[in-house]
Amino acid sequence: MITYNSMVNPHELSRRGWLQAASLLAAAAGSGVAQENAADTGPRTSTVEDRAKRLEWWHEARFGMFVHFGLYSLLGRHEWAMEQEGIPVAEYQQLAKQFNPKPHAARAWAKLAKTAGMKYMVMTTKHHEGFCHFDTKLTDYCAPKQAAGRDLVAEYVEAAQAEGLRYGFYYSLMDWHHPDGARCKTDEAARRRFVDYIHGQVRELCTNYGKPAVLWYDVNWPLTAEGWESEKMNKMVRGLQPEILINNRSGIPEDFTTPEQRIQASAAPWEACMTMNDSWGYHRADDNWKSAKTIVRNLLTCTRDQGNYLLNIGPKADGSIPPESVEILTKVGKWMDNHGELIHKADKCQARRSEFAQFTRQGNTLYVHAYFWPGETLSLGGLQQKVIAAKMYPSGKAVKFQQEEFRVRFMGLPMDAPDPLVTTLAVECDGEPTQDMNALRVNRKRESV
Ligand code: GLC
Repeated sequence: MITYNSMVNPHELSRRGWLQAASLLAAAAGSGVAQENAADTGPRTSTVEDRAKRLEWWHEARFGMFVHFGLYSLLGRHEWAMEQEGIPVAEYQQLAKQFNPKPHAARAWAKLAKTAGMKYMVMTTKHHEGFCHFDTKLTDYCAPKQAAGRDLVAEYVEAAQAEGLRYGFYYSLMDWHHPDGARCKTDEAARRRFVDYIHGQVRELCTNYGKPAVLWYDVNWPLTAEGWESEKMNKMVRGLQPEILINNRSGIPEDFTTPEQRIQASAAPWEACMTMNDSWGYHRADDNWKSAKTIVRNLLTCTRDQGNYLLNIGPKADGSIPPESVEILTKVGKWMDNHGELIHKADKCQARRSEFAQFTRQGNTLYVHAYFWPGETLSLGGLQQKVIAAKMYPSGKAVKFQQEEFRVRFMGLPMDAPDPLVTTLAVECDGEPTQDMNALRVNRKRESV
């Protein structure tokens, strides 16, 4: 028998203008995918200056590991299996009795994250299925009170700390298991109980596990920010963890936005979360793996536009990481060993037009990252600054170049790509490197010479 404890304290909801906007967006949300941008309006529970300061480490970190781990890992059919296969709660919750990952499985996750050049981790402490990995007084449906008999969040925290990584907590507001998880929308007493439950668990997560760096809310169905009392909840969070970063999925914008399965820059700080195949939770048959090269390209795209890249692993039920993920991240890590500096210390980069390379920048140096190596000559169009020097990166070997009005050519390069993933050239310019493709298109002489 699973029990839930919560105080009943019905109260009258207040209405405010911003909430109407938020709830319109939230109504369209329903699924996690639509909700990612649901929090473009509404209050923040911190000031601009404070936010900028708290985000400093995060911008520099750039690359993090997302971990989706839950009872669904036992099924191996995606983390939405419970809902999409219509599995009854009473049947699904039996999985908790079998769930018994090997002790300290999280150590391998953290080691792999570090190998890959990642600087932080975010683990599902409770996904939509409702099962909690942490020690909670508010339900028995949690790892310490079921077969695992262990606090898996504590193990994860210890593992991340041992590798010098910051750790964050993913926490789903939507809950398919809690008896009030759906009726809270229409039944005020249920809402009161459920919101107390959610706030209570968020309080536990922010009280019992040291200094979590990130609170990563997910799907806020079926309530609005008002219904969840998100402002109050996040004020509580900041009271307990003044330096924590909070994402936008409690229905108010807070510290950063969360484009999902796509890279989309925005004026606000942003973090693209993406999978390595097509599933977040372990899916034994999902073989649609991205290549290490694609992962590096995605990381470079995020870096160019100053966003973060939160890349997911979905461990198996025993906590082991799918070998494909290990292989991909190990390759990415080899590349990061030589190029990590360019990722973590990058400035925003305006240059972006090439079908074979991605660009990043540090000061007046443009880094050309060729993922489809062009051979002996690499040409760039539209660079507006004078090139002073060009070198292979990281070897520092000088590269010959010739610059014309609309083109610069780097010559005498090896025919085959020196780096099997992405080869980098450092191009030092006489000012901040920028590209103007429009000027090239309009002004390049059209008559033949
Ligand atoms: C969506 C999905 C969820 C996943 C999340 C990650 O909201 O519902 O399964 O955890 O995206 O961003």
